[in-house]
Amino acid sequence: MRKNFFSGIQPSGRLHIGNYLGAIKQWTALQDSYEPVFGIVDYHAMTARYDPSEMQGRVLDAAASYLAAGLDPERGIMMVQSHVPEHVELAWILNCVTPMGRLSRIPTFKEKVRQNPDNVNMGLFGYPVLMAADILLYRSEIVPVGEDQVPHLEFTREIARRFNNTFGETFPEPAEVLSSGARILGLDGVDKMSKSLDNCLYLDDTDEVITKKLSTAPTDPARKRRDDPGNPDVCNIYSYHKVFSTPEELEHCAEGCRTAGIGCLDCKNILIEHMKELIGPIREKRTDLLARPEELRRILRDGGERARPIARATMAEVKERTGVAFEGTAG
Ligand code: TYM
Repeated sequence: MRKNFFSGIQPSGRLHIGNYLGAIKQWTALQDSYEPVFGIVDYHAMTARYDPSEMQGRVLDAAASYLAAGLDPERGIMMVQSHVPEHVELAWILNCVTPMGRLSRIPTFKEKVRQNPDNVNMGLFGYPVLMAADILLYRSEIVPVGEDQVPHLEFTREIARRFNNTFGETFPEPAEVLSSGARILGLDGVDKMSKSLDNCLYLDDTDEVITKKLSTAPTDPARKRRDDPGNPDVCNIYSYHKVFSTPEELEHCAEGCRTAGIGCLDCKNILIEHMKELIGPIREKRTDLLARPEELRRILRDGGERARPIARATMAEVKERTGVAFEGTAG
């Protein structure tokens, strides 16, 4: 039998190439050898302020990106977190084996508090518990994610262990799976690419926007003029080349930069072509899919219906083990 995995993205804005490389690209590569669940985690997105009238549009937008980037809703289950209430049900039970001190030390929580000091809500504090529930509900053995999610995976393993020690062996301890694009820096070259910092190349950027964003992006700050030799190791554009370009192109750019044989724009032009080749077809498929929202809704409803029996079976066992099952009600 194939093993399960769950991974998800928050519908909190347009998806970018960090989401694609850290998550979606890996999901497409793994979808034939696992039983995957691709979640659109709307309850997680509620931990930050948002406009309710935009939520449904964002969910459909994420679904269109998933499909356009190559996820197959027949092979895997494409679903919305809130369509399967067992996610929050399990999160509550996991809350009860989670020490508050452990949650408060998670670096992503500290970072979010710094970013939004006026909206430190309980959902934000318990965010990793809901994420652990997403993963454990499907008894995931692996979780393909970007590097920023590693502390959440460490936490998930710890909570699975605590639950198993307290109530008996129930959950596997899931391992993160990271790709070579597990931490893509933003166009500023300072912070990781992130929708909240708006330093992104988005999966729906036009060719003109891609060209503009990349041609104005910073390179090696010490290389002020075309004739100055540069250092590719400190250049953000070169860090993108490492993910997107061929070994020959990499060599050409590194050598050309060090010897001032090529200018930054020559180097960027190679990357711009790769980005257009990657983003162009995704953008076009997305536009096509978004013109058929009913079809997207059908796929998500179907995904929810296929996810629920798996979720119910896990919850029946969890309730049995925790002693809250009442004959005839546990699922
Ligand atoms: P989110 O929505 O912030 O990001 C979704 C996925 O994209 C990856 N990612 C990146 N990878 C490489 N470079 C970047 N700059 C970059 N930015 C984002 C993230 O690592 C992630 O894999 N907590 C999760 C959502 C979630 C989840 C889950 C994930 C909820 N439940 C269960 C896995 C399993 C989050 O906020 O991802």
